[in-house]
Amino acid sequence: MSAPARPAGSYDPAHTTGGGLGGELARLEAQACLSFPEELGVLRQLGLPEHGVLLELGAGPGAVTRRLRTALPALDVVALDIDETLLGHNTAKGAARVVGDAGRLPLRDACVDAVLLRYVLQHLPEPGAALAEVARVLKPGGRVITIEVDNGCWGLAEPVYPELGPIHAALAAAQRGAGGDRTVGRRMTRMLRAAGFDEVALRLFATSSDERPVADFAPHLGPQRLEPLVADGRLPLAALALAADRWRRFQEDPEAWVMLVGFVATGTAARAGGGGPEEGARPKAP
Ligand SMILES: C[S@@+](CC[C@H](N)C(=O)[O-])C[C@H]1O[C@@H](n2cnc3c(N)ncnc32)[C@H](O)[C@@H]1O
Repeated sequence: MSAPARPAGSYDPAHTTGGGLGGELARLEAQACLSFPEELGVLRQLGLPEHGVLLELGAGPGAVTRRLRTALPALDVVALDIDETLLGHNTAKGAARVVGDAGRLPLRDACVDAVLLRYVLQHLPEPGAALAEVARVLKPGGRVITIEVDNGCWGLAEPVYPELGPIHAALAAAQRGAGGDRTVGRRMTRMLRAAGFDEVALRLFATSSDERPVADFAPHLGPQRLEPLVADGRLPLAALALAADRWRRFQEDPEAWVMLVGFVATGTAARAGGGGPEEGARPKAP
């Protein structure tokens, strides 16, 4: 496997959370552990196939690849990522691994039945180029599914700590400054239509502390994500201390409650012979 150069984009596994690469591997694993059951329910509703070939684009170290292989053993999963080191950690049994760039997929036309991008679009400076590539490699009628966040609708928590607002805004601004977008959730359906997909739809999944201990929400609510920003001077140490204190208080509060929301968008690749909506009837991207 030869690694393409890292493109501009907001994902840098060594500087995403406290503890460098090891911390990020643990974060991705904890994040998948937290919400995969809810995500899988929505993926099934949206027609994730049980057979054929699924391209997991931006699969990284495989926290989701492994879970998909277990849940859908008859589905052939191809785990693709631009980062050869991360992909080296992806030891999902029975999954093929391919190093490649979302903007120039090393796959032939119309060769996969479905494509999943989970928390990838938010990091791409040119998500439209990646979705055009997804449309190219999908078989006619094949399905793309994107899972994402949106800062404006991340979920709900009680109690609320308004003093953390500027800190979360700083995190989003840092990602934006690196070419990413933490408000991509609201834009996904328009992006899919602009890339020519038909039957575009949006669903949400929710994960709450009714089903999980509050501590399990650490990948999203804990202060570790702020550590790289403090290390390179973009956030004062006092902000990290404040976030750590509020996370401790939240975990110690017996009345604390949290619900995280995830955005899932889907579309189908145009069917050969125009099985999709008439050109004139297809919704236009704004
Ligand atoms: C936040 S991680 C998500 C990993 C995995 N999808 C998950 O949900 O656990 C983002 C992933 O997208 C990959 N990625 C970023 N830019 C990419 C690109 N241009 N082409 C392919 N993969 C890319 C990163 O290397 C990383 O593995």
